Amino acid sequence: MSVNSDMFTNPLHLDLSMHFSTERIPERTVYAKGTGALGYFTVTHDVSQYTKANLFNEVGKQTPVLVRFSQGLQSLGGSDLARGLKGMSVKFYTKEGNFDIISPWFDLLKKNPRTNLNDVTSRYDFLTSVPTSLHGYLWTQADYGVPDGYRRMDAFPVHTYELSNQNGERYYVRFNFRTEQGLANLTSAQASEISGRDPDYYARDLYNAIAQKNFPAWKLEMDVMSLLDIKGADYDPFDLTRLWKNGTYETVQVGRLVLSQNPDNYFRVIEQSAFNPGNLVPGIPGPVDYVFKARRLFYQHAQTHRLGSNFNNIEANCPRYVKTYNRDGAPPLGDNMRDYPNYYPNSYNGPLPYVDDSRPSQKLIVLHSNAADLQPHAYFYNHILKTDDERQRMVDNIVPSLLNVTPPVLQRVINFMYLIDPDLGSRVTIGLEAARAAVNVIPAVTPVPKN
Ligand code: HEM
Repeated sequence: MSVNSDMFTNPLHLDLSMHFSTERIPERTVYAKGTGALGYFTVTHDVSQYTKANLFNEVGKQTPVLVRFSQGLQSLGGSDLARGLKGMSVKFYTKEGNFDIISPWFDLLKKNPRTNLNDVTSRYDFLTSVPTSLHGYLWTQADYGVPDGYRRMDAFPVHTYELSNQNGERYYVRFNFRTEQGLANLTSAQASEISGRDPDYYARDLYNAIAQKNFPAWKLEMDVMSLLDIKGADYDPFDLTRLWKNGTYETVQVGRLVLSQNPDNYFRVIEQSAFNPGNLVPGIPGPVDYVFKARRLFYQHAQTHRLGSNFNNIEANCPRYVKTYNRDGAPPLGDNMRDYPNYYPNSYNGPLPYVDDSRPSQKLIVLHSNAADLQPHAYFYNHILKTDDERQRMVDNIVPSLLNVTPPVLQRVINFMYLIDPDLGSRVTIGLEAARAAVNVIPAVTPVPKN
């Protein structure tokens, strides 16, 4: 057999085509469209008072990282420029195992099961049934919804994390990555123009910047509350849909994240990466809310389906220093734990489970309320959006999506807009009337061009 022999009996050709027809793996169920890079995190401030995490415990210490950026609702072939949530997932390869921080909030809307079309009525049905979620929605409809590239956005993992220090004292923090490139956003018109010619605009921007050694960087800060602050707060600091109120916490600098290397193979490093918010390290016991408990289960399940049961042996996901007793099964196996014993406890050389003696046995119990607190929404509208132009641009982004919403749901949306702020309610109502009038004046007959 040679390369030139009959293609159906040529093993080289068969191998190639059979591989081609089976080479796809499932894409992520959400945040499928993305890109990423490698780099390092450097501790710049002493935060040992809050956490004993080895990764943060020495000014100057460097930890390698893998970062994946993504688009919340776009499937693999989608556009970077769609308005909506963006993800920034960071995997720290620490000496104590992998620590993953995944930002920001999950947007659950799938397409309509009958039409396979995006369904605005379902979107607003959900948002008005769980009105706290309208807060995040307003952010995405404002200028923040389309950043000018992943390099020019901030990111935060939404949950309130519990930290513990050497003495077992607990602190509660919200992590924030602040871009050093400066925040910048695109208008809807700019975004749709760019999307038409380059739907991979964000990925290209990141790749080129790193290739030109213009390494993007983010400061990692944490907003901190003590247990006493938490107990005294007049709002729920564990509520994922809201930001903490100004004046109820202090902000502490932690370090700096730099992306300095493009992966040499996108599929191996980025597509096969698996981030799990349940990947935590000693000193960061993690969030205590219910959404986090759910995420602890779901990510691993999704990744077992997407990448196979040994997804943690894939190079991008494999902890650099920590071993487990998992072995065998479908590849990849890594070193398959060589000849280590496969039981614990043993008298030889298997890995030891982590036991945190200083961790307090008493657990914080967080009770969730069903009350809809619209204060964060009003704060966003009146204080985070600084100018009337910004407010109007947000309304202009919302209005077209309301045109096809069916009446009972539409009425609920308008009611909530008024409840958030009467000015918002009336702008949306006026905008909607104008948009309806404009739709009506579209000429019924398209003029026939003269020859
Ligand atoms: C119960 C709530 C949630 C569920 C069920 C859920 C589920 C999932 C699943 C199944 C994936 C795909 C994982 C993979 O295949 O590797 C994923 C990815 C992702 N989720 Fe969530 N999620 C939830 C909440 C959140 C929250 C609160 C955030 C933000 C703090 C978030 C941000 C992300 C991001 C950024 C990704 C992409 C990760 C990557 O870069 O690979 N999700 N989520």
